Amino acid sequence: MIIPKKIPTTSGRTVYTVPAEIRDEFLAEAKRKGVQILEEVGEFYVADTGSADLVWATDVSFRAFVFEIPSIAHGAKNLRALTGQKTYWQLLEGNQHRRATLISEALGEREMESFSYAKVPLPKRGLGDGTGTINAAFFLLTTNLGVAMLDSVARFPGAAIPLREEKVGPPSRAYLKLWEAFARIGDYPLPGARVLDLGSCPGGWTWALAKLGCEVLSMDGAPLEPAVEAMPGVTFKKGDAFKLTPAEATAHFGGKPIDWIFSDMICEPARLVTLLTTWIESGVCGRFIISVKFKGEADQAAIDALAALPGGTLRHLRQNKHELTWIKVPHESSVPHP
Ligand SMILES: C[S@@+](CC[C@H](N)C(=O)[O-])C[C@H]1O[C@@H](n2cnc3c(N)ncnc32)[C@H](O)[C@@H]1O
Repeated sequence: MIIPKKIPTTSGRTVYTVPAEIRDEFLAEAKRKGVQILEEVGEFYVADTGSADLVWATDVSFRAFVFEIPSIAHGAKNLRALTGQKTYWQLLEGNQHRRATLISEALGEREMESFSYAKVPLPKRGLGDGTGTINAAFFLLTTNLGVAMLDSVARFPGAAIPLREEKVGPPSRAYLKLWEAFARIGDYPLPGARVLDLGSCPGGWTWALAKLGCEVLSMDGAPLEPAVEAMPGVTFKKGDAFKLTPAEATAHFGGKPIDWIFSDMICEPARLVTLLTTWIESGVCGRFIISVKFKGEADQAAIDALAALPGGTLRHLRQNKHELTWIKVPHESSVPHP
């Protein structure tokens, strides 16, 4: 390790969290956008302050700082001094695990309990909970230096979201993607919400939405699992979701607007740009969670076009494999983006 010379202490940094399986995409994007990675520690990529947002980063802290650790107690004190207010310091896996744990203990932190899908509302911890506390995280570079991450875009720093898996019920694990998205934005459909689930087979997302009490119009060319189709609130329509018009969809809900549109369709990302533009322009729905899947190399032009769609955010989620998620929610329900 050769950090001290490269990273002057107390200077600002940008830290990207990048799960190992998307490292190549992330590094290619960093290169393309002129972001120079100064240090790589586990899932964390440290760059200079003011570095660009990168969609393949699962989390980004644009306000990260290197702090000194002369001793355990002094390291904890230096962290506290960075925020000057009540802070939940999440310990993340970097170097020097034992020393990092001792600092976490000195800060009085306990591991966050996992939360199950059926249990809503989402636990509010730190940022956005209105109690004047913030979420932050830290990991160690060396014995004497650590990195503190403030204002993560993921709401749970490092996208370390303790989702408890449901062992019975969902026909696939795909619902975890939705669950992560809801946890990240701190918002989810309320009972009675009118929602579309496009590309819904075998039914993991439809299951998850019906479980929240939504009225789900679920659409796929392939059949839904019968147990999901039989859930209260679920209507299944077999067919091509690209052909569903906003007028048809609202007619299904008695002419009322749609609260959320979800899509987990396997399709060319460029087709999603057209689809989303139509639905945004129609004005019938304000909230979207849309998977963007890639076959082989990611389609850069489509990524740029999706990232430029008004009001949305494109990002890699921890539950995504080789895919991104485009999310659009009204400003007040989303984490403010620096
Ligand atoms: C990854 S699966 C969806 C998994 C689902 N979200 C779940 O939780 O079980 C993708 C689905 O997209 C569907 N699909 C692809 N193109 C479609 C289209 N044009 N219209 C409707 N469904 C489509 C496929 O049939 C496939 O079932």
